[in-house]
Amino acid sequence: MNQDLLSNLIVEYKQLFENVWEFGGGYGFRYHHGVRVMKYCQKIVKFPRFKNETINIDALLIAALFHDIGKIEAVNENGQLVYGNYGGVSHDALGAKIAPKYLEKYIKEKELIDLICLIISEQESKVTPTRIESKIIKDADRLDHYGVLHLWCSITYANYNNKNVEGLKEFWEGEEGKKKYESNSSKFYFPGVKAIAEKRFKNLTQATELMFKEDDGLDL
Ligand SMILES: [Fe+2]
Ligand SMILES: [Fe+2]
Repeated sequence: MNQDLLSNLIVEYKQLFENVWEFGGGYGFRYHHGVRVMKYCQKIVKFPRFKNETINIDALLIAALFHDIGKIEAVNENGQLVYGNYGGVSHDALGAKIAPKYLEKYIKEKELIDLICLIISEQESKVTPTRIESKIIKDADRLDHYGVLHLWCSITYANYNNKNVEGLKEFWEGEEGKKKYESNSSKFYFPGVKAIAEKRFKNLTQATELMFKEDDGLDL
């Protein structure tokens, strides 16, 4: 992978999202999420499972960084990313459409841009990926929601919604909380990534429940 190209694209992505805020994650969250998913992909491709696979590393890492680019279109005049505001299509389909606008400044090979866009479009939940790069990014993206870091999203979300620790507890124990994570863990494509997600989820569960314990004074 051309490191200069990757560095330039990181700077481009940062400029797009650093002043954007969202309920679950606060300011610049989307930028950091993109960089994390890219870093996870860099590590995942080194797993023995991928030793004999043909993987386009450039397409993988650039698509990983830009996988949520479609969300830029849902930023309102206050800099807020309004979830779901993608003009009737998924943020993945929208992202695949608008990504060339940003990538063409740095990448001259049309074939590479087309492949990156295909991979971004294949991030849509109802699309069955045709490329191994798409599956790796889907797993890396999912993994980013399984650990202690997710507490940051929950806390900022609760704050923006004027909720307190009890609000967080309701979320964690409700349909969108713990149960959803447990049922979604079957969606990981690669057992090696799933194993890390399970380890992270144990930590998240422990940290979250310790917080509730303290809140109720149950540790005394
Ligand atoms: Fe996404
Ligand atoms: Fe994502």
